[in-house]
Amino acid sequence: MNILITGGAGFIGNHVVRLLVNKYPNYKIINLDALTYAGNLENLADVQNAPNYFFEKATILDIESLDKIFNKYEIDAVLHLAAESHVDRSIVSPLDFVYTNIVGTVNLLNAAKKYWANNLAQKNLFYHISTDEVYGSLGEEGLFTETTSYAPNSPYSASKASSDHFVRAYAETYKMPIVISNCSNNYGPFQFPEKLIPLFINNIISKKPLPVYGDGKYTRDWLYVKDHAFAIDLLLHKGTIGSTYNIGGFNEWQNIDLIKLLCKLMDEKLGNKQGTSEQLITYVKDRKGHDKRYAIDASKIKSELGWIPSLTFEEGLSETIDWYLNNKEWLEKVTSGAYQHYYEKMYANR
Ligand code: NAD
Ligand code: DAU
Repeated sequence: MNILITGGAGFIGNHVVRLLVNKYPNYKIINLDALTYAGNLENLADVQNAPNYFFEKATILDIESLDKIFNKYEIDAVLHLAAESHVDRSIVSPLDFVYTNIVGTVNLLNAAKKYWANNLAQKNLFYHISTDEVYGSLGEEGLFTETTSYAPNSPYSASKASSDHFVRAYAETYKMPIVISNCSNNYGPFQFPEKLIPLFINNIISKKPLPVYGDGKYTRDWLYVKDHAFAIDLLLHKGTIGSTYNIGGFNEWQNIDLIKLLCKLMDEKLGNKQGTSEQLITYVKDRKGHDKRYAIDASKIKSELGWIPSLTFEEGLSETIDWYLNNKEWLEKVTSGAYQHYYEKMYANR
């Protein structure tokens, strides 16, 4: 199979690329990424010379490039991860999310539709990697299932909901073979330090305040990123065409409890007196339209395909902290912006 992965230089994308490059030496894995602030090719340094890995710097907003790439690599399946992914940024610049997440997704659907038009094969698949935020917010009780109505509240989740609807519409209208998965909050190595867990690890290392939005009593369901990548591999090969799957960690945490656990583990690992990191907690103004609670019912992927998370949260969080502590240079390059020169350095003369 020749698999096009969009957004492969991002947080989840690099784990998916690495998994597939290593697990399927007979596949061609093509990583298409625009290398926005969130894309970091250095994340893939360990596989960049693998014979079955190919990189294309391109934006999903460029229709011509998409057509060229489909033809050049004879693409069989698409794993679409490229997106603007940060809720706070979407509140400031909603249009960026409309362009990349909605228009970009429709461009990609059109490129796949055009390329597969005359010879649609069994192995063709357009798989959209989406989010649980499309379902909106839960109260104290209940879980999101695959049949929960869409009710997105942020510009980010509205753009992802819209892209999900376009993917579904292409399945109905043009018989595009599709799968959609809606996953909960991921954490792990290589996450950009704007998201809660890596931001707070970075701030504890640099002894900066930990900005807790509102009262901190917001709930998220956390999943280790490598377990999300395993689920994506499974759905790529065994997902029922035309289906949606929820993916989650069976692992709900109120932000403030998670932050206190993180502070405790950081103090242990840094050899600090217990309570040192907690002193950095600073309550700040709430996020606009802040969703109260997300929690996923992942029983469909569990019962149909046997997927469950492989790590407990304590294991995953501990591994994640160790990774950031052992990769302070990565954090330094990402926060200073130096990572953005990696592409020119490594690829300019190829
Ligand atoms: P990320 O922001 O870390 O990475 C996004 C990647 O997309 C980057 O490499 C960026 O360069 C690339 N990109 C952005 N705009 C592009 C464009 N116009 N053309 C080509 N590439 C472009 O995001 P992530 O956290 O890895 O999320 C990946 C996908 O998974 C997103 O679609 C997101 O909505 C979804 N998702 C994320 C989470 C999470 O917790 N992070 C959970 C569920 C679903
Ligand atoms: O649920 C899946 C989604 O999870 C993905 O689709 C998104 O791409 C991903 O960014 C994530 O969205 P969240 O908004 O839930 O993640 P974030 O890490 O930004 O925030 C997690 C919680 O922590 C949320 O309730 C807001 C809060 N928070 C976040 C930051 C960055 C703070 O209290 N302080 C902060 O500084």
